Amino acid sequence: MDIRVAQHAGFCFGVKRATQTVFDLLASGEEKVFTLGPLIHNASAVKTLEEKGVGVLQSLDEWTEGRVVIRSHGVGPEVYQKAEAMGIPLIDATCPDVKRIHRTVAEKYAEGYPIIILGKPDHPEVIGTNGWCGNTAVIISDASQLDGLALPDKACVVAQTTLMRQKWDAIIEPLKERISNLYIVDTICPTTTQRQCEAQALAENMDAMLVIGGKNSANTASLFQVCQKHCSQVYLIEGVSDIPWTALKNLQKIGIVAGASTPDWIIKEVYSKMSEQEKMGQLNEEEVKVQNAEPETVSEAAAAPEAA
Ligand code: F3S
Repeated sequence: MDIRVAQHAGFCFGVKRATQTVFDLLASGEEKVFTLGPLIHNASAVKTLEEKGVGVLQSLDEWTEGRVVIRSHGVGPEVYQKAEAMGIPLIDATCPDVKRIHRTVAEKYAEGYPIIILGKPDHPEVIGTNGWCGNTAVIISDASQLDGLALPDKACVVAQTTLMRQKWDAIIEPLKERISNLYIVDTICPTTTQRQCEAQALAENMDAMLVIGGKNSANTASLFQVCQKHCSQVYLIEGVSDIPWTALKNLQKIGIVAGASTPDWIIKEVYSKMSEQEKMGQLNEEEVKVQNAEPETVSEAAAAPEAA
C-alpha cells in the first residue's frame, strides 16, 4: 500500500500562533486561561487543551476569572468594548491576515461602501468581520443566492479566508456585472488555496483519500469537497478511531490531507497506524470489527459549518 500525506497538512500559521499563545500563557504560570469559543475546530485537540487547563467560554457573560484569548478567527469591535467595560483581560490571538480584513472592512465602510462578505453567515470569522461594518454586511455563501437579491450600485467585497476558490469565482463574476463600483479585496488565505491544490493533485492519483479534521471545520469541509471531485472514495475522519479499515482494505494508494486546525500529532498518529497495518498485511476480521468506525458520509451542508 502506498500512503501519501500532503506536503502542507495541519495547523496553518494563524492557528499555530493562537495555540502557541495559549501554551505560552500556561508556561508563564497563568492558572486560569480561557478561549472565547473553541480555540480550534477539532474535538480531540480541544479535549487535550481542556486537560491542560484551558477552558472555553461561549460568551464573555460566562467570565468570572482569568485571561481570555481571542482565537485566530477574530471578533467584532463590540467584543473588545464589552471586555473593557467588564474589566476582562483579553489576549488577542486573531490571525494577522484576519485583522487586515477587519481594517479593510472598517475603512471602506467608513468611506460609504456597503460591505459584501462571501462566506458562511454562521462562521465565527464572518460574524467577527461583519462586526467591523456595524453588522450591516450582505453575506453570500453561494452563487444561487444572487437570484433576486437586491444589490447596491457600489460595494466592497471580501471573503472568508477559508472560502473555496471556485465559490469565489462563481460569485464574484456576476457581482462584477451587477455592481458598477465594486471594490474587490480577495482575502482568501493563500494557505487555503495551496492546500486545496495539493488535495486535488493527490486525490487525482489515489484510490482513496482520508481527510483529517473536525466535523465543524470549514476548511476541512472544503478539502473534503475538493477530494470528492477527484477521487471516488473520500472519508472525513477526526482521528485514528475513525479510520474506515474495511473500506480501505485491498486498496493500493491512500492519500491523507488535513485541515488547518488539525494538530500534527493526530496526522502522525493516523499515518503511523496506517503504516503499521500496512506492514502487518491484511487485517483479520477481529481487528476490523474492533477498529472500524463507520466512515463519515458528509453532505456539503453538513460538512461546512465552521472555520480555520
Ligand atoms: Fe490565518 Fe489563513 Fe489560517 S487567514 S487563520 S493563516 S487559514
